[in-house]
Amino acid sequence: MHSRIAGTGGYLPAAVLSNLDLERRMDTTDAWIRERTGIERRHIVAPGETTVDMAEHAARAALDAAGCRPEECDLIIVGTCTPDLVFPNPGVMLQARLGCRGVPAFSVEAACSGFIYALSMADKFIRAGEAKRALVVGAESLSKITDPNDRGTAILFGDGAGAVVLVPDADAGIVSTHLHADGAYIELLRATGGVSAGHAPGGDIIRMAGAEVFKVAVTMLGRIVDETLAANGLEKSAIDWLVPHQANIRIIQATAKKLGLPLERVIVTVQEHGNTSTASVPLALDVGVRDGRIKRGDLLLLEAFGGGFTWGSALVRY
Ligand code: ACO
Repeated sequence: MHSRIAGTGGYLPAAVLSNLDLERRMDTTDAWIRERTGIERRHIVAPGETTVDMAEHAARAALDAAGCRPEECDLIIVGTCTPDLVFPNPGVMLQARLGCRGVPAFSVEAACSGFIYALSMADKFIRAGEAKRALVVGAESLSKITDPNDRGTAILFGDGAGAVVLVPDADAGIVSTHLHADGAYIELLRATGGVSAGHAPGGDIIRMAGAEVFKVAVTMLGRIVDETLAANGLEKSAIDWLVPHQANIRIIQATAKKLGLPLERVIVTVQEHGNTSTASVPLALDVGVRDGRIKRGDLLLLEAFGGGFTWGSALVRY
């Protein structure tokens, strides 16, 4: 028994923050941002718009695509590092809106790898026979924890949500997932505050040693490509599409090169979305599915790397 992706959905807030907007605000240029990151614009939540608001939009789109009524969901897992409240968890808040009362609903915090972690868990629930309609969401309001004056982070992060619905299938679906973490790197990428650390005046923000993060990301993502292929006895040529975490076009290019894939076989949304953390992989997947590039039967490699550090991959027969 496998779990198969029956539908995908995505949501981006209406407001767009372009590189030129940032150029006016801080010591940076559109040319630098494009060259060093590939990003051209990112979407930003409206005042009063929440992480769960975005999760709901993406979830309803995925449920619709899967032909599944919201009340039929029997498991909800939301990956996020920007929950609206410390508790209850955003999965529960989403459940209340969808009307599938009583089913398990929880969140996973693994920074940018949160969606891959959540997908891996939902897959295990389905294969164990404990869920038949699992909703997996990645949703982030990263702009709310980004220092608008820090040119090392404000240029990167955006808001949004992506979702998939997993159903059981005897033939196709999630082939394998691979999860890793190394807490020795906490200081290279972290939020400044929290329940025990206390909250910074003006709110908690992301602090990142970008160049150091970059080097570890490229190394670990290269390794997880090898690990995923080896675990399944596959050659690089078996992969039809790379659906990567959209952190930086140069990291994406390095992983594509490792796979021997031309960029035409990579779903790239970083120019439009920026880095939306847990939302980035399901948003890219949704774009590739809806524009018709990703077709049923294609073999996809999903991967992500984020704060912690955490990293992971999923090999998916779509
Ligand atoms: N505009 C203009 N110049 C800049 C900017 C900017 N926005 N930011 C940095 N610079 C300057 C630096 O000050 C430095 O100048 P110097 O040489 O005079 O000292 C120079 O550009 C190079 O700086 P680096 O930090 O080395 O730039 P780099 O090429 O590494 O790009 C970036 C920075 C884009 C942040 C890159 O390191 C990166 O993408 N890192 C990985 C991010 C990532 O993957 N994060 C993980 C997921 S996020 C999560 O989990 C929440």
